[in-house]
Amino acid sequence: MELSLKNISVALSGEEILDSVSLTVDDGAFISLLGASGCGKSTLLKTIAGIIAPSKGSVFLNGVCADHLPPHKRGTVIVFQDLRLFPHMTVAENIAFPMKMRGAAREEYVRTTTELLEKVQLQGFERRRVREMSGGQLQRVALARALAANPNVLLLDEPFSSLDENLRQDMRQLVQRLQKDYKITTILVTHDRQEALSMSDKIALMMDGRILQYDTPENIYDTSVSRTVADFFESAPYIEGVVRDGIFKCEIAEFVVDKPDGIYQAVLRSGAIYIDEKGPIRDFYVSEIQYRGEDYKITLKEESSNLQLETYISSPCQFNVGDMVCIGLNVSRVLLFSSN
Ligand SMILES: Nc1ncnc2c1ncn2[C@@H]1O[C@H](COP(=O)(O)OP(=O)(O)O)[C@@H](O)[C@H]1O
Ligand SMILES: [Mg+2]
Repeated sequence: MELSLKNISVALSGEEILDSVSLTVDDGAFISLLGASGCGKSTLLKTIAGIIAPSKGSVFLNGVCADHLPPHKRGTVIVFQDLRLFPHMTVAENIAFPMKMRGAAREEYVRTTTELLEKVQLQGFERRRVREMSGGQLQRVALARALAANPNVLLLDEPFSSLDENLRQDMRQLVQRLQKDYKITTILVTHDRQEALSMSDKIALMMDGRILQYDTPENIYDTSVSRTVADFFESAPYIEGVVRDGIFKCEIAEFVVDKPDGIYQAVLRSGAIYIDEKGPIRDFYVSEIQYRGEDYKITLKEESSNLQLETYISSPCQFNVGDMVCIGLNVSRVLLFSSN
């Protein structure tokens, strides 16, 4: 089902939490709401589900305004961060619950429960009590129960945040597989940029109750609309410079750009700067070497100014603090933002 939000604003306890949020999720698409804690992600999910009423704006499901529909008539299901399973019921009873509520025949809900248990790889656990299950298993039960409701739109509120890294990877794959199998329009709430980048058809980056950019993972990372968006994905050093007649000039380099004249900040993403003995940029020395496991982060400083750059090299590190180095610039890893 296609979901569309038009200028949604929400106020809670007199405070504006969401400010004119607009978003369209295509039928069957998987999108992420990405943003720091407190930016309004859960509030937006609850507004979509009809649990919170917006002060302005509307929710459309397949082009039809859903504002008057109560939560249980919207076909939206939220998997909450704390899962909210029924502790006194067995795994199978939890999964069957939404089907029983809608009056499904016993034969149907038993069959579907068996099928869903298989889908989430929990065969044999049907009679277990919820309190006898591990965190990762409970996530699977919650997911199966959500699917049992046969939702038009699946809303996942940070479902993996409490799991350790291995389990999180497994759950991400499982969610992606189920989402594709069932072709359910899905919104994943996360504060994990890697998770959003790797799983989504599109990402809506949220900050302070607003969407700063809604785009494909590649576009939002490679062509961030602002430095704030770029910084969210990768905090990187920047240099100020000037564009005149299609040439950007800064302290360390100049190169051709397709930008109007003005003052710009050049954000130097990882890979923008590299150490190269034949590199054109001189007068930098190694001021710090930090071992990070997968690589070394090398901080470089210019002798005559305060300019500080970063580069990353793989093991072994042949440099020492204090070494003078020449560096090169990979322009494709530079993002320019107007300072005007
Ligand atoms: N019922 C409420 N009354 C007042 N403020 C609230 C209420 N619920 C959430 N908030 C505030 O709204 C903001 C967004 O909350 P939330 O949507 O939970 O953010 P997120 O899910 O992105 O962490 C936070 O500042 C939070 O304190
Ligand atoms: Mg939240």
